[in-house]
Amino acid sequence: MPGTTTHARLLAWIDELVALCQPDRVHLCDGSADEAAALADLLVAQGTLIRLNPALRPNSFLARSDVRDVARVEDRTFICTDDPADAGPTNHHRDPAQMRVTLRGLFSGCMRGRTLYVVPFSMGPLGSPIAHIGVQLTDSAYAVLNMRIMTRMGQGALDVLGDDGEFVPCVHSVGAPLAQGHADVPWPCAPDQITIAHFPATREIWSFGSGYGGNALLGKKCFALRIASTMARAEGWLAEHMLIVGVERPDGQRQYAAAAFPSACGKTNFAMMQPPAGFPGWKVWTVGDDIAWIKPAADGSLRAINPENGFFGVAPGTGWDTNPNAMAALYANCIFTNVALTPEGDVWWEGMSKDPPATAIDWTGQPWTPGCGRKAAHPNARFTAPLSQCPTVDPASDDPAGVPIAAFLFGGRQSHTQPLVVQAQSWAEGVYWAATMGSEATAAAVGQAAVRRDPFAMLPFCGYHVGDYCDHWLTVGAGLQAPPPIFRVNWFRKGEDGRFLWPGFGDNLRVLAWALDRAAGQAPAAEGPLGWQPPADALRWAGLELPAGTFGALQAVDPGPWMAELDDQQALFDKLGDRLPPELHQARDRLRARLRRQRGVWQSP
Ligand code: OXD
Ligand code: MN
Repeated sequence: MPGTTTHARLLAWIDELVALCQPDRVHLCDGSADEAAALADLLVAQGTLIRLNPALRPNSFLARSDVRDVARVEDRTFICTDDPADAGPTNHHRDPAQMRVTLRGLFSGCMRGRTLYVVPFSMGPLGSPIAHIGVQLTDSAYAVLNMRIMTRMGQGALDVLGDDGEFVPCVHSVGAPLAQGHADVPWPCAPDQITIAHFPATREIWSFGSGYGGNALLGKKCFALRIASTMARAEGWLAEHMLIVGVERPDGQRQYAAAAFPSACGKTNFAMMQPPAGFPGWKVWTVGDDIAWIKPAADGSLRAINPENGFFGVAPGTGWDTNPNAMAALYANCIFTNVALTPEGDVWWEGMSKDPPATAIDWTGQPWTPGCGRKAAHPNARFTAPLSQCPTVDPASDDPAGVPIAAFLFGGRQSHTQPLVVQAQSWAEGVYWAATMGSEATAAAVGQAAVRRDPFAMLPFCGYHVGDYCDHWLTVGAGLQAPPPIFRVNWFRKGEDGRFLWPGFGDNLRVLAWALDRAAGQAPAAEGPLGWQPPADALRWAGLELPAGTFGALQAVDPGPWMAELDDQQALFDKLGDRLPPELHQARDRLRARLRRQRGVWQSP
């Protein structure tokens, strides 16, 4: 049974797009299991999906994309605002009127021979005051199946929408009309014409030419970050590239933190981490691994939801040793894209297990053996998995009220200079830390790596000027009676010998627990030039023996390199110009003054 709606504006919009795109058929999705099964059968029949061995991976599929369509395409992603300055220097800008002309040309007749699927979805628990509804029109059944895992998709979303609810219109086409009598290819796309356009003023998304990931699953980066960040600014809330994690102590008390790390810094691992040795009775709960929507509540707290309902995780590097909870979540009902196929009909990728299969079919469909010199999986290969299948999924992840955020963590990847953990001394200093976070492009030797600044890990995802975005954070903080403390963390600091000083993974709970203790006013801290840092004995060390001097080296703040680091951070501020709030310049000046007062190397007592 297809979905039903009496929403006049929605129906009129669908009619308008049908007239433009000229599909052969229209299907309004109800989100049911029967509908998903029928779509999967269709995609198997046309070669887009390969059904995995049901005895090993029930109801799961492998897709191999076109080799030219394997990732988000940032340089074809546009923010369309009347004034280019409103998109800011970190976004690609297009004039909205000109972009509409371009899109009209691209979408005209683009779905000939295909079905237009109407995909209603809720970002967040159905009916939650923090959630918002979107409707994606797409000619990709693969996108429909992924959206069904990643969002609350189908009739439930239509019911929330009612007769006149607000929705974000999202239009997507793979850009490959099918001439009559012609067979389809497994992965239709138009890689030379990829265009992903956002219109913040009208809260619209148009995506053409790609069937992959964030280019095609428009609820994720396009809606939940780029458009939602502009909605959040207008409405006084926060749409963030953050995981949400809960920490439960042996006495049952649970606190939540939201954390931002740039892409490829282990966010999914952090969101599902296993407590390390020495933490009996502690549990880590997963609310989300990528995006958080956070709204101030009447009681003065910040309440957060994960707008997504699944994981679209990078497969390579995810393994039983690095992230057993993610691996467990993949036991069934998943879509794998661009990983290898084993002779048994299961999937494999680099890092999944120590021992690779003796033979496999690689992500391009070629025979593969461990010594052949090629990767079995594409480095950006993905799994799409239901959130509910994660063993650590937080029961509150379905709570429309969201969870209260006790602390914010911001972390980059820096092999030197940046300590393991620092607590900002004020909200504004925390915003400074978040605005200046960054990652080294490569794991270069100490002191040599260029840091790519990635404010709030939002560089490719902020729907407006990053300077205004920092200002919005200051405004939200100023409106809170007791803003949560903000921490800057860095798991990647290296010693003189070039080796990581910190074990990372589950041991990161030692740092998170201190941060949450601080949030509860229950842990000591020592004042250093950068902010509050934990005295060595403030962290729980049971089960971890760090070599002597390591904690001091992890926390060391050396004023010389730090002055250079502040100069490097200033380069980003120069780029952001006068939209950057003066509070951030003041925060930098305060840091500089504190570092100047510092003589020699500061270490935590
Ligand atoms: C992602 C990303 O895919 O941040 O989540 O790139
Ligand atoms: Mn992400």
